[in-house]
Amino acid sequence: MEEQDRLIHNHNEISALLKFFTEFLDLFVKGGVAEYADKANKFCDGFIVSHFKWEEETLFPDLLKNCNDQEKELIDEIQKEHPPILKLVDTFKDLVNSYSVQPEEGQALKIVEANHKLVEAVHSHAKNEEIELFSIIEKYLK
Ligand SMILES: [Fe+2]
Ligand SMILES: [Fe+2]
Repeated sequence: MEEQDRLIHNHNEISALLKFFTEFLDLFVKGGVAEYADKANKFCDGFIVSHFKWEEETLFPDLLKNCNDQEKELIDEIQKEHPPILKLVDTFKDLVNSYSVQPEEGQALKIVEANHKLVEAVHSHAKNEEIELFSIIEKYLK
């Protein structure tokens, strides 16, 4: 099934990138700032932001057409996790991009923290979706 496959595929890519991002932090710490900033921006826009957009505009509406009240509530809860993560994305990108232009004192540590926070939030959100959504997708979109 197309939507389920896409969700699994996207989530696999996200989790591979999260792993890479955790490891890649070493590069930033060792001075590979430009490369790090480039990867950070691409990851945020290409995976997190566009994946959430697809879920909100396509996947969730398709599920909501068919599912029962309890499942609707679940999807609603999942969707509510998106805005705070997008906020973390903005904070993270701002920190990384302004650092590449003009680093401030203590900013490197803030980037490391923001990186960890974002990785953790995306990881836990993706896990929640896999646990909660996959069975609903299986039920209605297979
Ligand atoms: Fe999501
Ligand atoms: Fe997702």
